[in-house]
Amino acid sequence: MTPPPVITPGSPASRPQPTLPCGDLLLRPWQAGDAAAFLAAYQDETIRRWHTRRPSCEADALKWFDTYRRDWATERGGHWAVAGVPGQVLGRIALRGWDFDDGLADVAYWVVPAARGGGVATRAVQALTAWAMEEAGFHRLTLDHSTHNHASCRVATKSGYDLEGTKRSAAVHDDGRHDMHLHARIREA
Ligand SMILES: CC(C)(COP(=O)(O)OP(=O)(O)OC[C@H]1O[C@@H](n2cnc3c(N)ncnc32)[C@H](O)[C@@H]1OP(=O)(O)O)[C@@H](O)C(=O)NCCC(=O)NCCS
Repeated sequence: MTPPPVITPGSPASRPQPTLPCGDLLLRPWQAGDAAAFLAAYQDETIRRWHTRRPSCEADALKWFDTYRRDWATERGGHWAVAGVPGQVLGRIALRGWDFDDGLADVAYWVVPAARGGGVATRAVQALTAWAMEEAGFHRLTLDHSTHNHASCRVATKSGYDLEGTKRSAAVHDDGRHDMHLHARIREA
């Protein structure tokens, strides 16, 4: 007999995308008013180094936000702004590539330069992981980063995503192909 899917299709998208509080941070859906901050983040050299797909203008950013809403509605993924207390955008976090049959998804993030080094990414990953495993029912979450991206490696490890290996030549960056570390966290029974 075919095993049932780990997550019942229709269950996450039957509800609005949640806002996830996390101490003095809030993970919330992107809003039209975030377009300028979103675009500005992609002017940062470090974000440009590790993220090869970038919006080129505010209209582009708004189109990305539409795609994010569609991803939620069609159960492909969820995309959140990581906001500080007054509501300003400190970062981005996403859970993409939803696979309900096996309960899999993939985490991605960035943090604006002014907010780095204070644990924003780690707290956001931990809050999203708690929602994904305890509320949405995902079993295995993965996270990959270039082997040269040491800060991202620390975030993954600090968030409980164990290093499983190196995917050789797995991603194209502006300066060519990079080997990628694969990290994963498994839901405890
Ligand atoms: C990676 C990134 C998201 C981290 O965000 P952050 O909020 O500063 O992360 P945290 O403060 O939670 O943790 C950062 C950790 O990286 C470490 N770190 C920072 N720069 C580092 C470097 N050059 N080498 C090694 N470790 C580094 C910090 O010391 C810290 O680890 P520690 O707590 O053990 O000291 C942020 O630097 C960023 O947006 N970078 C550009 C985009 C990017 O890399 N996205 C991820 C693509 S996979």
